[in-house]
Amino acid sequence: MVAMEGAVGAWAWWLGLLFGAVPLLCLAVWHSTGAWYCAAFALKYRGHGSNGIRRRLPPGHMGVPFLGETLSLLWYFKLARRPDDFIGAKKSAYGSAAGMYRTHLFGSPSIIACSPAANKFVLQSPESFGIRWPVPELVGITSVVNVEGSSHARLRGFILAAINRPSSLQTIATVVQPRVVAALRTWADKGTIVAATEIKKVTFANICKMFISMEPSPLTDKIDRWFGDLLDGLRAYPFDFPGTASHGARKSRRKLDAIFREELEARKKVDRQCDDLMGGLMQMKDEQGKKLSNEEVVDNIVSLVIAGYESTTIAIMWAVYHLAKSPVVLAKLREENIAMSKSKGGSTSTSLMITHTDIPKMKYTAKVVEETIRMANIAPMVHRVANRDVEYRGYTIPKGWAVLVWLRSLHTDPNYYEDPLSFNPNRWDEPAKAGTYQVFGGGPRVCAGNMLARLQVTIILHHLCVGYEWELLNPDAEINYLPHPRPADGAAMAFRKLST
Ligand code: HEM
Repeated sequence: MVAMEGAVGAWAWWLGLLFGAVPLLCLAVWHSTGAWYCAAFALKYRGHGSNGIRRRLPPGHMGVPFLGETLSLLWYFKLARRPDDFIGAKKSAYGSAAGMYRTHLFGSPSIIACSPAANKFVLQSPESFGIRWPVPELVGITSVVNVEGSSHARLRGFILAAINRPSSLQTIATVVQPRVVAALRTWADKGTIVAATEIKKVTFANICKMFISMEPSPLTDKIDRWFGDLLDGLRAYPFDFPGTASHGARKSRRKLDAIFREELEARKKVDRQCDDLMGGLMQMKDEQGKKLSNEEVVDNIVSLVIAGYESTTIAIMWAVYHLAKSPVVLAKLREENIAMSKSKGGSTSTSLMITHTDIPKMKYTAKVVEETIRMANIAPMVHRVANRDVEYRGYTIPKGWAVLVWLRSLHTDPNYYEDPLSFNPNRWDEPAKAGTYQVFGGGPRVCAGNMLARLQVTIILHHLCVGYEWELLNPDAEINYLPHPRPADGAAMAFRKLST
């Protein structure tokens, strides 16, 4: 009897623990990060700001200690493959009136901005929201993506002149096309290709030609690998010891510096002027007649490759992917491009080189390009840090917190784009609603290569649709969303010359 009472007592104790203490403990852990930051915030302002208005953090949840909501983000992006539900869940839980949420991601208390107005507010206030790269040396201390204020404006002027002016785009269009035409021929010879791999090769060959007049060689293969290491390091935690991605990236960055510096010195020694990006950056002068230093030229070439290589590859891959799934769109695109080719003296199946001035005439092609870039969401978010406490619609963004401008959420929101996940170039018959198209960011740091990216996608689409046809081998392949969206099989496809 006593033994039975003892057993019942033990059971009651365990049940009490299971249904009482364990949930309480879980709840405490679940809210502890938020409670910690909210308490620190409340202590700092003791309820009121300097103007007597009660200060509040944006609504949200800050996840579990140390990890914050990083696991939840990885779950939505990597496992569930429903990236938009990460923000969707916040909208359902806290409403979307503020367009901002507090969270804790990638090791830092953070604010997510995810409405047209909130994104614009952050992107257009560079004095309040600065840049903070975990390892600035990897992108380059004097690179346009790292410097701020007047140094940024000066460098940006140089870069826009080198890659975004109509005359530069005209030259670039001539330089890149022979490589594109040759690459498509080899794809057809192979018969089946992994589009992501082949597009990466041709994009890199073009970058080497445009930026430093280098032809493919064992050295450019090495440069390609070093850039791969650099990108891996930029995405990894910045631990610098042997074996880590960050350590490997630093080593590769030094090798890239050495190669580009050697080329630059060689050009200076014999006063060789080349019609490429390095040549352009070496020659340009600012209003005071000052040229860029060697370090600035090298840092900016490296950061332009970082910004333009993977992004262009992915944009082209998605264009090819969507066209394979949208025969009606492809037929219309082909019609426009064959007409363009014929108007220049080509035949129905032979594309001629197009020029930058042809592009405004290719109206449907431009819609396909825009729709591809909208759906690709190559940069799902951009990063800033609050330089000071910033007030926004009654909420405070505390100094030192990371600010993530969630560009992706605008392009997949049915309030702004009807049936947003369907590929429909015709939606561009009308311009997007104001502020809802931020694929290239916004404000003073809006993508400096946006016209170059559009040009490169247009050029490859022209030669593809006039001369070739292709089918996806796995049309239902799963999509990976990190680090960038792409089909898991890299868009493997059968590829051949157009039969008619
Ligand atoms: C479809 C392709 C591309 C996409 C989606 C894209 C997207 C973006 C975005 C969202 C930003 C803003 C970053 C921020 O605010 O922090 C940006 C900046 C930038 N992009 Fe692109 N980009 C693309 C292609 C390119 C290309 C081809 C180049 C040049 C080769 C390039 C060069 C740059 C540079 C230099 C910046 C920094 C501008 C500054 O800080 O002033 N991008 N890009």
